Amino acid sequence: MPLVIAMDGPSGSGKSSASKGVARALGLRYLDTGAMYRAMTWWMLRNGVPVGDAEAVAARAADPVIVSGTDPDAPSISVDGQDVSDPIRTREVTNAVSAVSAVPAVRARLVALQREIMADGGIVVEGRDIGTVVAPDAPVKVYLTASEEVRAARRAKDLAADPGASVTVTQAEQARRDRLDSTRKASPLAKAADAQEIDSTELGLAEVIEAVVRLAKEQE
Ligand code: C5P
Repeated sequence: MPLVIAMDGPSGSGKSSASKGVARALGLRYLDTGAMYRAMTWWMLRNGVPVGDAEAVAARAADPVIVSGTDPDAPSISVDGQDVSDPIRTREVTNAVSAVSAVPAVRARLVALQREIMADGGIVVEGRDIGTVVAPDAPVKVYLTASEEVRAARRAKDLAADPGASVTVTQAEQARRDRLDSTRKASPLAKAADAQEIDSTELGLAEVIEAVVRLAKEQE
């Protein structure tokens, strides 16, 4: 299989910054699969689809046209031609995304898109099920973790512009999302048996990037 670096882990583990940094360091493309689930969720909310109703979500899963950019310096995502990079980061989308991403028809559609994008290799792909389901043959698999407190603090920093996003609120919402993501039937968040676990609680971003780059070079 051409070079695919699978980066999985829970929310706030530092996957996005690390994945983009690794892609830059190695001159690879970058795909944020979480943004694709967020884009699907944004579209469902926008079109009045009740996101708690799995059948209603499944019935519309084929409708939005989702296009993901793969430049680590300018990640982009659009739905039906509209750039949704900002609206997919709202709390409304964040709190609805786990319900939408648990629907098998949604996953089937987005996994097919993800496999198309990564077919030529040369890409760092971040998500929850990349090493387990989307690219089980990926030559480099990383499972990135961090303590719950550190993850919540990172998330709260990301959401600094949102007055409701205190560390406590973020921590509770994040714990709920991780619980839903790890306990759903379809492709739950899990560490692949052959993934290398990196705990970033006490590591800086540069150290995490360095560790992943080392793994990628080892398998060359
Ligand atoms: O990575 P991010 O926090 O943006 O992901 C948003 C949500 O998308 C996750 O909470 C999860 O429900 C879903 N997701 C998924 N599978 C992936 C990536 C994200 O189910 N590969």
